[in-house]
Amino acid sequence: MTNEYGKAAPLSYNKYLRVPDLIGLQDCLSGPEHHDELLFITVHQAYELWFKQILHELDAAVLLMNQDRLPAAARTLGRVVEIEKLLVTQIHILETMVPISFLGFREQLNPASGFQSMQFREIEFTSGLKLEGILNEFRNDPFAYERLRKRYETASLSEIFFAVLSRRGLDAPADDKSLTDAERKQLYERRTQAVLEVLTHFEERYEEFQLGEALLEHDEFFLLWRSHHIKMVERMVGAKRGTGGSEGIGYLQTTLGKKFFPELWEARTYLDVKHGAGGCPFSSPP
Ligand code: HEM
Repeated sequence: MTNEYGKAAPLSYNKYLRVPDLIGLQDCLSGPEHHDELLFITVHQAYELWFKQILHELDAAVLLMNQDRLPAAARTLGRVVEIEKLLVTQIHILETMVPISFLGFREQLNPASGFQSMQFREIEFTSGLKLEGILNEFRNDPFAYERLRKRYETASLSEIFFAVLSRRGLDAPADDKSLTDAERKQLYERRTQAVLEVLTHFEERYEEFQLGEALLEHDEFFLLWRSHHIKMVERMVGAKRGTGGSEGIGYLQTTLGKKFFPELWEARTYLDVKHGAGGCPFSSPP
């Protein structure tokens, strides 16, 4: 862009960050405009920007893990966790709305819902929580469906983590869609056993341990977000049905059991100082 003398205008803060575009993206639907609707839109848009950054970091972590650069991958996941800590506390800004005020514009959001957040689902798929039912929810949204389908078909962080353990000599087999339920159960136990090895010998296997802890923390803060979101929703609308058509908090509570890396949690149940001498139910008999 040039100025009135035909010279290139110097870069400015507002130009670089496209601030005029950014602050023009909050279109309130209420008429007359409801004071709190701007907060509602801003909080959601801020989430979506952070989701974009999280996906950027998760994709980097995948590359690093594939290159066996575990400390760098763990550091990248550390950034994801710091963002997630912010996302957990950010939800409470919405609690500064009094419930009657939120109800003043809630009806107009119908049938839109956070349930349809494409990037939230991308984070779930990329981490390891891939549900075909969720993918199919996006069938009528070609842009979102295509992004999600790609992530659905690409190896997740969970898959890549066990591939890393396998390359490092542990018995952590790869998943295969054709496995029977019994075979999948066995795969889960062998992977849990591999994690148990890492947790027991964490000094010798410090790189694998550090990466596993970073993944677990990502899972933990995502779950914490779920639970803070539920309490905020209950405070705002009680047990009313959601704008997306679900039962509301009844549905949301069912999501609290979702884990990206269940084996990383499960292994702790069997961790025992006697491990190796028969302390683990999955280990071969001494
Ligand atoms: C007053 C504010 C909010 C209320 C009352 C609310 C309410 C709800 C309800 C009732 C659901 C269940 C689905 C449905 O039937 O609609 C839901 C799901 C969801 N909401 Fe919110 N929400 C709020 C703010 C937010 C914010 C700020 C985000 C950030 C992105 C968000 C993200 C989500 C996501 C990702 C789901 C799907 C969760 C899952 O299926 O695991 N919500 N919300």
